[in-house]
Amino acid sequence: MKTIQTWGRTLDIAAPVYDFTEPLVLFGKQKQINQLLLDLLEIKPGHRILDIGCGTGLVAELISKKLDADAGGMAVGIDAASKMIAAARKKRQSKSCNFEIMAGENLLFEDKSFDSIVSSFFFHHIDLDLKTKTLEESFRVLKPGGRLVIADMHTPTNLLGAMTSYFARWIFIQPEIGENIRGVLPGLIEKSGFVKPELVKTFLGYVAVFSSRKP
Ligand SMILES: C[S@@+](CC[C@H](N)C(=O)[O-])C[C@H]1O[C@@H](n2cnc3c(N)ncnc32)[C@H](O)[C@@H]1O
Repeated sequence: MKTIQTWGRTLDIAAPVYDFTEPLVLFGKQKQINQLLLDLLEIKPGHRILDIGCGTGLVAELISKKLDADAGGMAVGIDAASKMIAAARKKRQSKSCNFEIMAGENLLFEDKSFDSIVSSFFFHHIDLDLKTKTLEESFRVLKPGGRLVIADMHTPTNLLGAMTSYFARWIFIQPEIGENIRGVLPGLIEKSGFVKPELVKTFLGYVAVFSSRKP
């Protein structure tokens, strides 16, 4: 199992500790954010749902619990980091949950093969070009009418949010976060063909949850 070559910031190094550190970074809001993602996806038992940049697969696993594999339901998590996918497979693989090493900008799936797509805290790991490519690929593999739900860093709405996001931008020397702070995501989503996204809710002053769909 090899990590895919991508300009995205893959997180092999964080795979062993990710499930301990992520709840800390989200200051106790992880459950609420994930619940909102599940609600917005309007999951039906037979749905095929793609999680892009799935990390260790927590969101895909939560989705899979609402699916029925016998009715065709399947949550597919993809991540370019092989160690993330190894951890996801070890912890979460089930009849209705599957994980693949794959890059968001090059999805190896048929056109219109998913009922909905979710992505959490992935887009601040990739630059503008890959953000665009990943959204175009998402549009291609989503069925018409299918939902796109994204939780990620966005323009800060309060002092804590501004401090957290600028701290992360500079401590990790990560210009991709700077793009999110500048608020590029909704425009890119719409430019890729999706319906103008709704900013459903913000958390902690730096996380936004967007919901859109393919016309
Ligand atoms: C912060 S983690 C988010 C994990 C998970 N979605 C969550 O909500 O906790 C970002 C993930 O994006 C992955 N990644 C970075 N570049 C990628 C790319 N081009 N394609 C797919 N995954 C990528 C990293 O390996 C990492 O696991």
